[in-house]
Amino acid sequence: MAEALQQLVLDVLDREGSIKDTRTLTLPGSNEPDASSDAQITILGALNSLSSREMIKYDAHEVFTHVLTAEGAAIVKDGSHEARVWNALSSTPVPAADLKKLVGDETAKVGQGRAFKNGWIGKTGDGLIRTAETISDVTQEELKEIQTTGSLNAGEKVLADLRKRKLVVQKKGQWFTVKKGAEFSTSIAKPETDLTSDMLTSGKWKSSKFKKYNFEAEGIPTSGGALHMLLKVREEIRSIFLEMGFAEMPTQSYVESGFWCFDALFVPQQHPARDLQDTFYLSDPAKADQPDKAYYERVSRTHEHGDYGSIGYRAPWQHDESSKLLLRTHTTASSAHMLYKLAAKCRGENVDEDEQGAGVSQTSAEGTADDGFRPAKLFSIDRVFRNETMDATHLAEFHQVEGVVADRNLTLADLIGFMRVFFQKMGIEKVRFKPAYNPYTEPSLEIFAFHPMLNKWVEVGNSGMFRPEMLEPMGFPKDVRVHGWGLSLERPTMIRYGINNIRTLVGHKVPIDAVEASPAPTF
Ligand code: PHE
Repeated sequence: MAEALQQLVLDVLDREGSIKDTRTLTLPGSNEPDASSDAQITILGALNSLSSREMIKYDAHEVFTHVLTAEGAAIVKDGSHEARVWNALSSTPVPAADLKKLVGDETAKVGQGRAFKNGWIGKTGDGLIRTAETISDVTQEELKEIQTTGSLNAGEKVLADLRKRKLVVQKKGQWFTVKKGAEFSTSIAKPETDLTSDMLTSGKWKSSKFKKYNFEAEGIPTSGGALHMLLKVREEIRSIFLEMGFAEMPTQSYVESGFWCFDALFVPQQHPARDLQDTFYLSDPAKADQPDKAYYERVSRTHEHGDYGSIGYRAPWQHDESSKLLLRTHTTASSAHMLYKLAAKCRGENVDEDEQGAGVSQTSAEGTADDGFRPAKLFSIDRVFRNETMDATHLAEFHQVEGVVADRNLTLADLIGFMRVFFQKMGIEKVRFKPAYNPYTEPSLEIFAFHPMLNKWVEVGNSGMFRPEMLEPMGFPKDVRVHGWGLSLERPTMIRYGINNIRTLVGHKVPIDAVEASPAPTF
C-alpha cells in the first residue's frame, strides 16, 4: 500500500504537474476520492517519505470537517426522531403512552415536539395522529450529506444547530498540495543508507543516491544495566550506616554451624528455631570443624550448667547439635563471629590490632585500664535462609540488615536513641518499641513504625542488648555491653516501591522494566 500510494502520487504529478488537493485522490484499492482524515493521514505518510528524498514538495492546509456522532449515524440509517414518530402514526389516533412503546422513550420525547413544530402530527381527544400526507426528513438528508462530504452546503448556521443537537462534531483535518521536487522521478529508487567499502572501491558511490540524515529522529533508548530495587535500598541503608561511623562486617559465609548460628548466641539446643521445619541443614558435608576448644567449652558449660552469674539451661549438651552445618537463619551468626574476634585481645590472645580491626572501627578506650577492649560499630546487609512456606510476603530466603554496637556501659536508652536516629535517617519518624523475647538478648524490643500510607503501625525490626551468657564466654570484660538490631531489607523495599507481592521483587517474575524505572530511594 505504502509503495503503491507513493507511486500514485508520482504518476499524478507526472501527468498533471501538481496535485492541488489531495482530497481528490483516489487511493490504491479504492474507487472514489477519499476526503476522510484517515485517508489524509495515510497520504501524509507517503508524502513525507517522498519529500525526504526531495522527489516532491508539499504544503499542508487545515480544514474543519464534520463527522457524525453515533446518534447522527443512527438517524442516517433509521430517519430522524420526528420522522420516526410520523412513521409510527397514521390517521387512527394513538395514545401518547402507546407511541412510547412503538418508537422508544427517547424518540417519542424528542421526536414529538419537532413533529408538532413541523406540522407533521396533531392531537385529538384519543391521541396522536398524522396531519401531513408526506414529509421530507431534512435532518436525515443533511446528515447524509455530511457523512459523504464532511461538510454541508446549507452552511454554518445549520451545522451549528446539528452540533448543538449532538448529531455531528467538528474535527480538525489536513489536506495537502503537492509539487515536484528537485529529485522528481516516476521511479522510486531506494536510496542507499550506508556508504560501504564496496561502494568506495567500485566507485558506485559517485552515482548512488543517499538517504538524507534525519537529525530530528529520536534515537532508540539506550539500554544499560540497572540496580535491582533491593540493591538500591541496600546501598541507601549502607550509606546511612557508613555516615554513622559503622564498619561493614564480612558476611559471605551463607553456611554456618549450629554452634555459631545458635549456641554462641545462647539459643538453647532445644529451641524450635533449630527444627528442621525452620532451618535448612546440609547433608554433604553435614558436620562443621570444631571451633576453638576453650571457647567451645565455655559455651557448652554456660548452656548446660550455667556460668557468669547464670544458671544456664540445665539440659544435656549435645555436641552433635552444635556441629551441624546449616544455611544461616540470621546474620547475627556473622555478628557473633565478629564479636568473638573483637574480644580476642580481651582473651589475652596476641593479635595484631590491624588484623583484629578488619572491618572494625576502633577508638582506644581512654582513661580505662587497657584490658584489650576496643569499642566497635558494625553492620551487615546480607542474605539469610529460613524453611518458610512461601506466600505473597514470605520466601525461603531474604536479606537482613543488622547493626551491632559494642561499648562499655551502654544502656537500653542508648539502643533506643540509636534506633530512633537510624530509622529517622530512613525516613521513619514515628517509632515505638514493644518488649519482646530473643534467646540472645535481654531486654529485647520489637520496633514498630507508623506507616502514613498504610495508616497503621507496622513491625520494622527486632533488637536488644546481648546477654552476658553470650558475651562473657567470648571474653568481653563485664562492663562491656553490646546492643544490636535487625530488620529485613525486603519490607522497606516493598513499602518504598509499593510492591505487594514478594514474587515481583525476587525471582523470575521480576519485571525488568520496573527494575530500570524504579528510582533510587532518598531516605
Ligand atoms: N537476629 C534477629 C532476627 O533475626 C535480629 C536481631 C539482631 C535482634 C541483633 C537482636 C539483636 O530477627
